[in-house]
Amino acid sequence: MRFRSVKGTHDILPQESARWQHVEGVIRSWAERFGFREIRTPILEPFELIARGVGQTTDIVTKEMFTLQRGQDLLVLRPEMTAPVMRAYLQHGLYTQGAVQKWYYIGAMFRAERPQRGRQRQFHQYGAEVIGSPDPTADAEVIALQMGILEEFGLQGLRLRLNSIGDEAARARYREALLAYFRPLADRLSPASRERLERNPLRILDSKEPQDQELAARAPRITEYLSEGCRQHFEQLKRYLEDLGIAYEEDPLLVRGLDYYSRTAFEVTSPLLGAQDALGGGGRYDGLAKALGGPPTPGVGFAGGLERLLLALEASGYLFPAPARAELYIAATGAEARRWALVRAQRWRRQEGLRVEYDLLGRSIKAQLREADRMGARFVLFVGDQELRQGLAPLKELASGEQTWVPLDEVPEYLRRAHVSSLRT
Ligand code: HAM
Repeated sequence: MRFRSVKGTHDILPQESARWQHVEGVIRSWAERFGFREIRTPILEPFELIARGVGQTTDIVTKEMFTLQRGQDLLVLRPEMTAPVMRAYLQHGLYTQGAVQKWYYIGAMFRAERPQRGRQRQFHQYGAEVIGSPDPTADAEVIALQMGILEEFGLQGLRLRLNSIGDEAARARYREALLAYFRPLADRLSPASRERLERNPLRILDSKEPQDQELAARAPRITEYLSEGCRQHFEQLKRYLEDLGIAYEEDPLLVRGLDYYSRTAFEVTSPLLGAQDALGGGGRYDGLAKALGGPPTPGVGFAGGLERLLLALEASGYLFPAPARAELYIAATGAEARRWALVRAQRWRRQEGLRVEYDLLGRSIKAQLREADRMGARFVLFVGDQELRQGLAPLKELASGEQTWVPLDEVPEYLRRAHVSSLRT
């Protein structure tokens, strides 16, 4: 075969897309119950937006960007949505329209990471952002949405880890304390962490290497560097989560891989996933609007990975609804009957809203019946020249094998009655 999908990207075939649509439907329904409205932004963004938004020293910007040069413009395939959402908010001056904007999104993101289970180069996120509120109720709102969605799917054993990484001033003080602690230990750090030490020592804290974890466990804690305002914000958020009955674990080592965070940071993991066990994460980004050249505007949000959610659901044995199937297959023989099937299928689809299929290959009745069976059609209507003349044809229910002669014009009514009686039993 000549062509294959690009490394780290995957086709979502029709037999899988019903699952995607189901999961997306649940997400939309939850987001809308909370009053979030959908935003769709372009897949292409200016390189500079992501560099400034996500942070020049992050892995995403230094190693994982898909970039495109077009004339003078350096563009990227978006690696995440928070910076693009904030760009759209600022570009359209939405701070003049009501105090708080609540937006959600579902879409493809791109990061040139080493592909593995649960980690792709093109993947899909769903997420939500509350822009304009510094209040901890906004943090509680996005966490409640994220956990509500996951619980609706009945996922067990979820862990919500929560931290406050303070404001810029607290982080600057904390950074100095971490440097002072890690510098003398540099030769005991993993090579990746040693490299991060001067650029971004906070990232050492959530390294997965055991040698780093051992040292991180004894490192100074961000909690001791929080300002009074940050501390109160964090305490209030924890109280709200308790009021909502949302279980969380405080984790002072949780720092996320994007530089825009301030105060709240959180992550949700599932034991059903492998090494890439984060179903989603988020936090507050009160400095982002200003970093992008806008008026200071607080924000908080989260994003989850759709591939990972689907992996977790499959591993949990989640019962996905059966894909929609044809209600009627018209098996026609002879030129007249085939023309009739074509026109009648169209009429019943348009006027009756029925899912109707017929043969597109001119096959034998036996082959048509086999196809109807394979596609899981509920009823098959057999029409030939004689049935057309009589205005009456056999209608067979495939599951029971029962066959009834039905006047052609009454087929939709018959199907509706059969549907109602099947709902009763
Ligand atoms: P993030 O933690 O980088 O946060 O990504 C959120 C989720 O996207 C991850 O927990 C994971 O489920 C999924 N994900 C990330 N990278 C990949 C990948 N390569 N393959 C498959 N799934 C992946 C953000 O992107 C922030 N924008 C979240 C946020 C919104 N913070 C505030 N608002």
